[in-house]
Amino acid sequence: MAGGVTGGGSATWSDRFEQGLHPAIERFNASIGFDITLLQEDLDGSIAHARMLAQCGVISEAEADQLCGGLEQIRAEAAEGRFQPGLEDEDVHFAVERRLIALLGPVGKKLHTGRSRNDQVGTDLRLWLRRRIDELIPQVKTFQQALLRQALSHRQTLIPGYTHLQRAQPVCLAHHLLAYVEMLERDRQRLEDVRKRVNVSPLGAAALAGTPVPIDRRSTAAALGFESLYANSLDAVSDRDFAVEFSAAISLVMVHLSRLGEEVIFWASEECGFVRLSDRCATGSSLMPQKKNPDVPELVRGKCGRVFGHLQGLLTMIKGLPLAYNKDFQEDKEALFDVVSTGSQCLEAMTILMDEGLSFREDRLEAAVAADFSNATDVADYLVARQVPFREAYQIVGSVVKQCLSEGLLLRDLSLDRWQSFHPAIESDLYDALAPRQVVAARTSEGGTGFDRVQEQLSAWSERLDLANG
Ligand code: ARG
Repeated sequence: MAGGVTGGGSATWSDRFEQGLHPAIERFNASIGFDITLLQEDLDGSIAHARMLAQCGVISEAEADQLCGGLEQIRAEAAEGRFQPGLEDEDVHFAVERRLIALLGPVGKKLHTGRSRNDQVGTDLRLWLRRRIDELIPQVKTFQQALLRQALSHRQTLIPGYTHLQRAQPVCLAHHLLAYVEMLERDRQRLEDVRKRVNVSPLGAAALAGTPVPIDRRSTAAALGFESLYANSLDAVSDRDFAVEFSAAISLVMVHLSRLGEEVIFWASEECGFVRLSDRCATGSSLMPQKKNPDVPELVRGKCGRVFGHLQGLLTMIKGLPLAYNKDFQEDKEALFDVVSTGSQCLEAMTILMDEGLSFREDRLEAAVAADFSNATDVADYLVARQVPFREAYQIVGSVVKQCLSEGLLLRDLSLDRWQSFHPAIESDLYDALAPRQVVAARTSEGGTGFDRVQEQLSAWSERLDLANG
């Protein structure tokens, strides 16, 4: 069957092919159902390529003008919903080329000179991902700002701090929230870093070996905003490391969102009761009228599975591939598209949750930190300040806690006489040291939860994240 893209008929391939594809194989092979997502980038890449061909004298300026005009027309058709490729187009690259040939006739057939779909798809994917990274980085920042706003309004609020999910020591709530701001800062830096390796042009590597056509790779790279070029054509068409790195970076974003999500779920439970969920971000039960469910953090926690799964999928897809291009690579797209949309949706939902989906119940938090043994370390520290060796102080406080537990008392309930029976160095100022607010305030070491230290951090973050009122 003669014709195809280059022949202008209905079939895609060269004269070497005599029969059309089996319909099931046509469906199996096609990526147009999802790689249409790359349309804008495919058009951008083709325009840069056509201009470069003219600069290099491979085609005339008039031909380049025609090609670019046709490509812009396809963009306009798509914007109006009139560009609707089908399975027979196989993928977005063929779909565009076919339409171009239909629009321009023979000139359209010159676009693919000195280029292959292998370097083309790599170019499209990088351009697309670079744009998405440029949207995700500010989204991470917006979420950090939402966390920071909550932190700023809870500079003086206390919350139990846990280890092993056992009450450990009270902390300042702002300090707890700022821990997430730190994690997200690393996420932002990772995305900036991945972007550098996304922003390298494979265009001009052609199928795998370069091309005898006198092209100028630096010209297309510059026109498309790439920072540099792949130095090796085989590497250029077969590198998908950036897809793995990006998915790993978003996996860590998901880890952080999910950890916070888990805390919100715990805080909202009746057992804990530290936050109240607003109607804007919670749902009810179809059966139990009293319920209000934390769907947002639960969904975020649940969606980690798909992002981590895509990361694993990409690694597995790449690991056994010989150089250079293999059709396996077609599998990178749906994974990457889903990592981007899931990461972005989760960031958006968690930002809304932080901004208007929950409020901290200061009464409950206050009561929680007052009614436990999370000030036990502070008695030991009190004794240490009076020259008792730490390990000895630790043992003494252990006996005190044991005694209190057996009598149903808290540390502050013990009389001074009884305290002194445990150690003579104890005096009445111990009671001040036991108060939760004092316990927190005393942790003045750098990076600690002491109010002054936290205020330093709040000011620094307000500046870094462009928020007033730090
Ligand atoms: N649809 C293909 C992909 O997504 C485009 C590249 C095809 N190249 C090829 N030699 N079959 O990877």
